[in-house]
Amino acid sequence: MRQHYLIGFFAALVLSIALGLYMFFEPARQAQAQLDLLTQQVSEGQELYAEDCAVCHGAAGEGLGATPALDSEGLRAMDFDTLYKVIARGRYDTAMAAWSVTDGGPLNDAQIESLIAVIQQGDWLSTRGVVVGLGLEPRAPISVTVTNETLLQIAALPDGERLASAVQTYATECVACHGANGQGTSLASALNTEALRVDRSAAQLTTAVTSGVAGTVMPAWAGTLTPEQIGDVVLLIQRWDELPANAIPEPPARPIIVTEALLAAGEQLYAASCARCHGTEGQGTRRAPALNEQPFFETYTADAALIQIISQGVPGTAMPAWGDRLGETEVEAIVAYLRSWEPTAPAVAVPQTGGGFGGPPWQRANAAPNAQPLAQEQPQTATAADPVGAGASPASAPVVDWRIAALIGIPTAFVLATLVGASLALWKLRNA
Ligand code: HEC
Ligand code: HEC
Ligand code: HEC
Repeated sequence: MRQHYLIGFFAALVLSIALGLYMFFEPARQAQAQLDLLTQQVSEGQELYAEDCAVCHGAAGEGLGATPALDSEGLRAMDFDTLYKVIARGRYDTAMAAWSVTDGGPLNDAQIESLIAVIQQGDWLSTRGVVVGLGLEPRAPISVTVTNETLLQIAALPDGERLASAVQTYATECVACHGANGQGTSLASALNTEALRVDRSAAQLTTAVTSGVAGTVMPAWAGTLTPEQIGDVVLLIQRWDELPANAIPEPPARPIIVTEALLAAGEQLYAASCARCHGTEGQGTRRAPALNEQPFFETYTADAALIQIISQGVPGTAMPAWGDRLGETEVEAIVAYLRSWEPTAPAVAVPQTGGGFGGPPWQRANAAPNAQPLAQEQPQTATAADPVGAGASPASAPVVDWRIAALIGIPTAFVLATLVGASLALWKLRNA
């Protein structure tokens, strides 16, 4: 009889250990699952934020011009439903459009929830990284000046006064998105097209300008422009082909604002992405010409030219196009760093040799004054691995899901206990 007790005891022991383990790991597992979900939500939300919201609310939610900041205690503390409604339905008669599919916008429930996660739980620095990484960092408000000569030329056209006034409105309010001469930019489509002149009625264009285009960054201008101004701009769109060529110039390139942080970032990016070809100090190697010498800076006096060549690469040579790997700000950081060499650049650089820079294999690595390991291939992208900023990495998570272990373990223990019990009973019967 004693064996029966023992069997019962062991079965209960196995059962309670399994249950105990399960209960011990379950809260941690649930917390981890929740954190994983939030991390994923935030990183999805950050991309949406970059695409749909940064242009008005700023790369780090700091607010631009008249648009309020989203990086605020008020919004972090706001209850979910209220915040949901603001984003889903927008604010009537302001540039803040309705974003939910239900209200004619482009975003579904899950997407709006992920944006709320960014606003309430995300880390704005990391969001900024995503925005910059995607090359969607908004620029400061841009306007251009139309020459008097051009304005007089336009004023001489039929209804010229209205057209001239519209050109000025365009040059201050619209050129940043719709580009020089209405030719379009990466932000917004062209307005100087045959298609708009032929396919859209004046009424349709008036509606687009007055109320904005829902689901895009095209604002409603009703609050900013008078109905007359809107009418004039519509006339301009309909008669764009009569304007003198190049009436509305390209907005000026934004100067790079050099900060210590930008220089430090540039130095790091240069070491990671450029040094192995152009040399650790820009002195050139067998693979690529020197950048740290006077002739280079004499050729490239404009930052825009350097940004262009680094982003586009040099087709047909080993010089890669970095534009698809580095964000706009990262390229600017590198340019700022290169510029920091200019005052001390030698007239002729002495190229770096050997040491893993394509030098012959018999040359010892330490023969080069500036030997540097080749291993730093990865360009540093701004996309943060930890968008929540919680700092918790799932590395410590248990490898086996304990729910599954318990599900398998408990019945197995039962079956085993029953089998052992049955054979013991049989054995006793046989011996009796
Ligand atoms: C075209 C510019 C524009 C875009 C794009 C835009 N907003 Fe707004 N947003 C505004 C303006 C303007 C306001 C202020 C409206 C008002 O006066 O109440 C605002 C207000 C808000 C508010 C309320 C802020 C507060 O403190 O009450 C939230 C939240 C918000 N926006 C979220 C978003 C999100 C999320 C996106 C992207 C899906 C987005 N916005 C895209 C212009 C914009
Ligand atoms: C913040 C960027 C931005 C600004 C500023 C802006 N627009 Fe737009 N606009 C857009 C976007 C985005 C669209 C949607 C079409 C597209 O996908 O490019 C659009 C669409 C339009 C359309 C409709 C085009 C069509 O195909 O039906 C008109 C008309 C228009 N804009 C006129 C203007 C005028 C006039 C101004 C200045 C008063 C202006 N926009 C300022 C971004 C902008
Ligand atoms: C795989 C090797 C390689 C890497 C990596 C590389 N480059 Fe180059 N780069 C070249 C070559 C080769 C040329 C010369 C192209 C030519 O013949 O015009 C060049 C040319 C240039 C020029 C124009 C120089 C001139 O005098 O006209 C600039 C500026 C430049 N690279 C910057 C960079 C920067 C910044 C990086 C890092 C982000 C970088 N390069 C990474 C190979 C490389």
